[in-house]
Amino acid sequence: MIPWQELGRARVPQGDLVLSRRGDEYAIRLRGAELMNSRAHQSEEQLAVLGCAGLRERSGVRVLIGGLGMGFTARAALDVLAADARIVIGELVPEVVAWNKGPLAALAGAPLDDPRVDVIVGDIAARIAEADGAYDAILLDVDNGPDAFTAPGNASLYGVPGLERARRALAPGGRLGVWSVEDDRAFTGRMRGVGFSVEQHRIAPHQGSGARHVVWIGTAPRRP
Ligand SMILES: C[S@@+](CC[C@H](N)C(=O)[O-])C[C@H]1O[C@@H](n2cnc3c(N)ncnc32)[C@H](O)[C@@H]1O
Repeated sequence: MIPWQELGRARVPQGDLVLSRRGDEYAIRLRGAELMNSRAHQSEEQLAVLGCAGLRERSGVRVLIGGLGMGFTARAALDVLAADARIVIGELVPEVVAWNKGPLAALAGAPLDDPRVDVIVGDIAARIAEADGAYDAILLDVDNGPDAFTAPGNASLYGVPGLERARRALAPGGRLGVWSVEDDRAFTGRMRGVGFSVEQHRIAPHQGSGARHVVWIGTAPRRP
């Protein structure tokens, strides 16, 4: 068995975020618990594929993604969007951005090198709050889901006021995609409550494994 080798470490309020490698497998752990593994990214990609459905045919599309992680959602969005699309990625941890420009770059085909991408270090909540009808899709994968927080401030993204801010940040008919490690019926209700029409998808984390992760796609009303 190849041992894990530490490649990088970031101090975050909850502890140390550690990037490690074992052969061609990469993992990011917080206080020893695995947050991301390069072998499991199907649902992260589907977040983009489902969230950006129907956008390839449109010109001047704008998509907001939070956070960057290992870049799989960003890569999948780039692959389904047109050449004139713009993607803004909000990532809280500067070291994660640096890792994506360094040891992780090849994993998802270097999405940060694509001229359609702008990456902003900071809280995605701030990007959502300042946007007014600016985005055709917002793709949110910053945490384990609506009820499990690796960053304490993230709870506000999944509550009613946070969902209302996301709806306001979207253009009429825009799509909010939210990733979660598990189902959360109360969250589905909150999305509907603020005016989204909601589809829920269950997606295997990797090929051949049982369905587990959940992606919600909420479509904002066509008329605000
Ligand atoms: C599970 S990972 C995202 C995985 C990503 N979808 C992919 O395809 O690799 C979550 C990321 O969100 C970042 N993050 C957490 N809270 C955030 C916030 N409030 N704003 C922006 N980024 C945040 C974390 O640092 C981490 O990089």
